[in-house]
Amino acid sequence: MKYIIGNWKMNGNKQLLLEMLNAITQKNSKNQVILCVPYTMLQSGTDIVSMGAQNISTHEFGPYTGEISAEMVYESGARYVILGHSEVREYHNESDSDVYTKANIALKYGLTPIICVGETAQERDQGLTQKIIEQSLRKSLPDCLDKKIIIAYEPRWAIGRGITPSYDDISRVHLLIHTTVKSLGYQDFNILYGASVKPDNVMEIMSLKYVDGVLVGGASLKKDEFISIITNVK
Ligand code: PGA
Repeated sequence: MKYIIGNWKMNGNKQLLLEMLNAITQKNSKNQVILCVPYTMLQSGTDIVSMGAQNISTHEFGPYTGEISAEMVYESGARYVILGHSEVREYHNESDSDVYTKANIALKYGLTPIICVGETAQERDQGLTQKIIEQSLRKSLPDCLDKKIIIAYEPRWAIGRGITPSYDDISRVHLLIHTTVKSLGYQDFNILYGASVKPDNVMEIMSLKYVDGVLVGGASLKKDEFISIITNVK
């Protein structure tokens, strides 16, 4: 079973969600489709489409105005949460240590964390991709080794730009993630690729070793494109 995860960011509305849920349901994919939508839509999960949040607090509860806890997300019906997305890292100064704290809390409250790692353009140009990814994994993965976690390789320079690394580069990073996570002792994990996934590149990306699914931003907001991606993932 593969994962096809849409990240709506701060986009979409209930009408689009309804249309998307209907279209996905009709496709009846054997793969796991998850929509990571704004908090106000999290209760819309179905038997076929699971919901995920795009962030949670580093705290379990308390006087943190404007934040949302893992428990609240779980109670809304969502079962997944994206952590460490580059936009949260950039606009909210989220660190690997924050991601580590959130990942532990997510697991405590029954959410599967989708932990994003990826290099910036500058790090890539300096040949630091592998180092940054490995470092990020070591600092941000949760303590519990036997609960399911999902890791997404999201090259930061490629997100939302319509460009992707070469397939060789994606393969190299996925092998590194697989080897690192395994050597750290995690028993149940999947590795997704995310950044500029489209209907016409998803098949090739999915054919690469250690790619268990895709995390889709822009194309997950266009019904026809997202359905084509779902159809193209065999
Ligand atoms: P993109 O976004 O597919 O629009 O590049 C991916 C993401 O931000 O997860």
